[in-house]
Amino acid sequence: MKTFLITGASSGIGAATARAAVGAGYRVALAARSEDKLKALVDELGADRAMAIACDVTSFEDQQAMVEKAVAAFGRIDVAFANAGIGSKGQGTAGGDPENWRQMVLTNVLGLVYTVRAVLAEIEKSRGHILLNGSRAGRIALPGSVYGATKWAVTGYGQNLREELAGTGVRVTLIEPGMVDTPFFSEAKPDALKAEDIANAVIYAVSQPPHVSVAELLVMPTPKA
Ligand SMILES: NC(=O)c1ccc[n+]([C@@H]2O[C@H](COP(=O)([O-])OP(=O)(O)OC[C@H]3O[C@@H](n4cnc5c(N)ncnc54)[C@H](OP(=O)(O)O)[C@@H]3O)[C@@H](O)[C@H]2O)c1
Repeated sequence: MKTFLITGASSGIGAATARAAVGAGYRVALAARSEDKLKALVDELGADRAMAIACDVTSFEDQQAMVEKAVAAFGRIDVAFANAGIGSKGQGTAGGDPENWRQMVLTNVLGLVYTVRAVLAEIEKSRGHILLNGSRAGRIALPGSVYGATKWAVTGYGQNLREELAGTGVRVTLIEPGMVDTPFFSEAKPDALKAEDIANAVIYAVSQPPHVSVAELLVMPTPKA
C-alpha cells in the first residue's frame, strides 16, 4: 500500500487531505506539533491506515525523525505534501510583527524546503510525488504582504525543484489555493473554498498516470453572481 506523508495534518487543508488520501487507498503519516489533534485523526482514520508524528517543521532534526518514523512504520513514502504554514499578524511592513515574520519564513519557506530535503531520498526510491502548498498569494501582489512574499518563495522553489528533479521520474506539484475556510483565519469565511476542495485538487494531481505532471493548480472560489 502506498504511503502519503502530510505536514500540517492536524487542521484545515492537511487534515482534509489526510481523509481524502485514505479514501483514495493510501496509508497516511500525519505530522504537526499538536499531537492531540493528530491522535484524534488517527482514531478516526484507523491505526492500520494512519500514524501521528509530532514534528515542528522549523526543526530539520524533527523532520528527519518524521521521515524515519514513517518509513519504520509503513516501509515507504510515495507522496509528500509540504503543507504546514502560518499567516500574518498585522498589516504589511509598517503594521507587521517582526517576530511573526521570522516564524513565517521559518515555517512557510525553510520548513517546506526541510521537508523536501528530509523526504527526497525516499521519494526518489518510490519515483513518487512531492506537493508544495503555496497560495494564490504567491502569484499576485497583495499590498505589503510578508505572507505573500513567503508564498512567492514557495512558487519559485517549486519551479526550481521541478527542474532539479527532471529525469528522476519524481513529479512536483504546486498547489495554489485561493481563500479557504480553515482555522488559518480567526473568523469564518463562508464565501471561501472548503478544505475538502483543496484535498480534491491534491488527489487529482497524484492520481494522474506517470507521464502526466500536474505542475501547478490554482484553485479559487467561484465569484458570487
Ligand atoms: N486557508 C487559506 O485561505 C489558505 C490559502 C492558500 C494557502 N494556504 C496554505 O495552506 C496551508 C495549510 O493552511 P490551512 O488553511 O489548512 O491552515 P490551518 O488550519 O491553520 O493549518 C495549518 C497547519 O500547519 C501546521 N503548522 C503550523 N506551524 C507548524 C510547525 N512549525 N510545525 C509543524 N506544523 C505546523 C498546523 O499544525 P500545528 O499547529 O499542530 O503544528 C496546522 O496543521 C498553509 O501553508 C497555508 O499558508 C491556506
